[in-house]
Amino acid sequence: MLVDADRFHGLYRSTSQAPTTDTSSIGKAVSLGCMRAESDQARWLIVEHVSLRNFRSYGELELALVPGVVLVTGPNGVGKTNLLEAIHVGSQGFSPRTRAETRLVRFGERIARVRLRGRDGSGFETDVEVEPGQGKRVRLNGAQLPAAEELRLRLSVLAFTPDRLAVVKGGPIVRRAYFDRMLGRLFPSRAELALEYGRALAQRNRALRRVRAGESSRAALEPWTSQVAALGTQLDEARAELVGLLAPAFGAQAVALGLERPSLRYEPRGLTVEELDRRLEHDVERAATGAGPHLRDVEIAAAGRELRSYGSQGEQRTAVLALVLAEAGVLGERRAGPPLLLLDDVFSELDEGRRARLLALLPPRGQTVLTATEPEAYPPGAAAPALVVAVTPGAAEAT
Ligand SMILES: Nc1ncnc2c1ncn2[C@@H]1O[C@H](COP(=O)(O)OP(=O)(O)O)[C@@H](O)[C@H]1O
Ligand SMILES: [Mg+2]
Repeated sequence: MLVDADRFHGLYRSTSQAPTTDTSSIGKAVSLGCMRAESDQARWLIVEHVSLRNFRSYGELELALVPGVVLVTGPNGVGKTNLLEAIHVGSQGFSPRTRAETRLVRFGERIARVRLRGRDGSGFETDVEVEPGQGKRVRLNGAQLPAAEELRLRLSVLAFTPDRLAVVKGGPIVRRAYFDRMLGRLFPSRAELALEYGRALAQRNRALRRVRAGESSRAALEPWTSQVAALGTQLDEARAELVGLLAPAFGAQAVALGLERPSLRYEPRGLTVEELDRRLEHDVERAATGAGPHLRDVEIAAAGRELRSYGSQGEQRTAVLALVLAEAGVLGERRAGPPLLLLDDVFSELDEGRRARLLALLPPRGQTVLTATEPEAYPPGAAAPALVVAVTPGAAEAT
């Protein structure tokens, strides 16, 4: 476990940065991580140019970016988040903050368009057009993609937005959705599992309602029960595997960000037909399936206490950031390429020490676009950003 943690940790360190954690065994692992990072150098996803037309507050924008940390600054409401959102839409095919895509189109316009140019090993160009009522048109290297989702299988991007805090602070449903989406990113072959389980569950619940209403027999439930048990067990095991894979990296990143004894846990319990049969009367009465992964939770804790109930805002934010960084590390190891990071308003509620530690954890060879209202929020001790982009209403310019 420890070796793994150090390896993930090491993946993000350049030799010039001293580890901030007090881990005596880290030296060897760090250089191992660096060697790997060296050979991965060409694969980091780097966006080199952003071109926008009628996207949110931007009528027309041409902006060149560079690898490393890109700091996007400007007062509240000028369009910083819009720019990050545009990069997400251009690279993943959807917005991280809304499903209502009409909102992406600049007021009074018909079509929003995001084009990105970049590289991750080989060069790429994307072109995403959003036209309400007409859906989306997505092109990768000139070829139209049948579905916008295919973009995210090809390009690796992770976003932190302030509403992601709900992953730690919110109810179990938010965590389940977050980890199930992560499951899709890290194990593409299991991307549909949560959806399939959800469908089987809904069918079983409908069948339970019919039994309760006296419209059908208990025997009619059987096929749904065995499907729910089979898919439920698969989903449960997949989540446990995911959390097991992520936990060492999460621990290392969270410690480096200053959380005490962080832990990430998911207890797989499986789901059997016998368990569902045992509680059948109860389930019929409520017309709801009362056991299964749709009721389980991932525990995110520090110093033995669940952060959801006992963490400060700052600790909760730190934990979410550690999750994002941990996923970035695992993605870099497992998938085609390590991701571009989009961190929105990431410095709020973090003290200067934590802000500096966060910057030290960012992939030195990758690209991180982060927003801050005040350029002064950028910790003075940290290496300067590779590029500062100043945003004013409708415009963004490198300074
Ligand atoms: N579809 C749209 N068309 C034009 N302006 C928009 C659209 N959607 C949001 N905006 C404007 O974008 C601004 C908010 O930008 P945002 O990126 O969230 O600001 P911040 O810099 O604080 O992150 C608001 O002024 C809002 O009116
Ligand atoms: Mg914002």
